[in-house]
Amino acid sequence: MIVPGSTIGILGGGQLGRMLILAGRSLGYRFHVFEPLGPCSAGMVADLEINANYDDEEELLRFAQSVDVITLEFENIPAEVINFLSAIKPVLPCFETLHICQHRQREKDFLKRNELPCAPFEYADSAVSLKLALQAIGFPCVIKTAAFGYDGKGQIKLKTAEEAADCDYLWGFLENPSRVVVEKWINHIGEFSVICARKADASKATFPMAENIHVNHILHASIVPARVTEATKASGTELACKIADLLDVVGLIAVELFLLEDGSLVINEMAPRPHNSGHYSIDGCETSQFEQHVRAITNLPFGSTKLLHNTVMINLLGDLWKNGEPDWEGLLCDPRVKIHLYGKGQARDGRKMGHFTMLGDDVDKTLELAQAYFNKLSTQ
Ligand SMILES: Nc1ncnc2c1ncn2[C@@H]1O[C@H](COP(=O)(O)OP(=O)(O)O)[C@@H](O)[C@H]1O
Ligand SMILES: [Mg+2]
Repeated sequence: MIVPGSTIGILGGGQLGRMLILAGRSLGYRFHVFEPLGPCSAGMVADLEINANYDDEEELLRFAQSVDVITLEFENIPAEVINFLSAIKPVLPCFETLHICQHRQREKDFLKRNELPCAPFEYADSAVSLKLALQAIGFPCVIKTAAFGYDGKGQIKLKTAEEAADCDYLWGFLENPSRVVVEKWINHIGEFSVICARKADASKATFPMAENIHVNHILHASIVPARVTEATKASGTELACKIADLLDVVGLIAVELFLLEDGSLVINEMAPRPHNSGHYSIDGCETSQFEQHVRAITNLPFGSTKLLHNTVMINLLGDLWKNGEPDWEGLLCDPRVKIHLYGKGQARDGRKMGHFTMLGDDVDKTLELAQAYFNKLSTQ
C-alpha cells in the first residue's frame, strides 16, 4: 500500500489531473504534476508543477525521484518516457496497457485478438494503401489517425465513394500521418460508457453505465442511469471488466460503447484513465472515478460506486464564453446544480472549460431541465 501522505506524480496537467488531485487530497496524498506547458489546470491545485518537455531527462528524473508512484491523466505519453520513468518508480497503469490504448491500430488488434466486438477495420500507411482500405471497408466509414486523436480530431467521416476519390488529398488533410485506421461507420442507436477500476490483485469496481450524447464529436452530456435495459448494462459492465483484466489495468479503464438496434454492444475505444463521461460520479456516486483511481493505484480498498442520485452531466466548452463570463448565478440558482470549473485561463471554441451536474429524481426530466439551463447559458 502507498500510504496516505505519500506523493503521487501525474503525467499531464489537464482537468482530469486537477480533479484527480482534488479527490486524492482528501485522502491525504500530495501531488506533483509534470506537464510541458504551464501554468496548467492540475498544477494550480498541485504541490509541485514541473513544466518541461518529455525529452528533458533531467526534469523527468527530478519528477520521478520526488514521488512515490506515477500515474497519468493523458495517455499519449511517449513510450520512451514511460520506460524511463518505470525504471525509477512504479508507473500505473503500466507500459503495456498504455502501449495498446494509445494507438488505435494496437487497440483494434487487441479487441480482434480477444474476440471482443468492434467495428470492422483496416489500416493504411500511405495514400495508396488508404485507397485499398477504403475499398475493403466500404461506405459510410471513418478514417482515424492511429495516434494522438481526441475529441474527433484527426478523423474524417466519408459517406460515399465519391468523397473518397482523392486519397492524396485526404492523406494531406490528415497531415501525412504515419498510420490510420479505416473503420466502418456504425449505425448505432446510442453511445454509452462503462468505467472499471481495477487493482493489482485483479479486484474490480465498476461505475454505473453512462449514456453519452456527443455534439460535433465532443461529449456534450452524460445521463446516468443510462436509459437501456438491465441486460445491456450488464453486458457493458462485463465487457469493461473483461478488458480491464486482459489489459492488466491498475487504475481505471473507460470503455466507450455503441448500442445497436438488435441490443448488442460494439466497443468504440478505451481510455486507461479517468474519463469525461465519468465526471457525473463526483456528485452522483458515493465514490467518484477520481477517488477510485487514487485508491486503485495506492492499493487502498475500493469505495462504493453506488449511484446516489440520477445525474446529468453537461460539458461547458469555451464557446460559452463568447460574450464574456457565463451567467453562473442563473445556473447555481437551482440548488440541484453543481458547477466544476477547471481554472483554464483562455476560453477557446471546443476547449473543455468545466462541466455542471444536475441531480434529480426522474432522469428524463433532469435531462430536460439540464439542457434548458445549458441552452440559456449558450444564448445569453
Ligand atoms: N465507427 C464509428 N461509427 C459511428 N460513429 C463513430 C465511429 N467512430 C467514431 N464515431 C463518432 O465519433 C466520436 C469520436 O470518435 P472516437 O473514436 O471516440 O474518438 P475520440 O478519441 O475523438 O473520442 C464517437 O464518440 C462517435 O460519436
Ligand atoms: Mg472517444
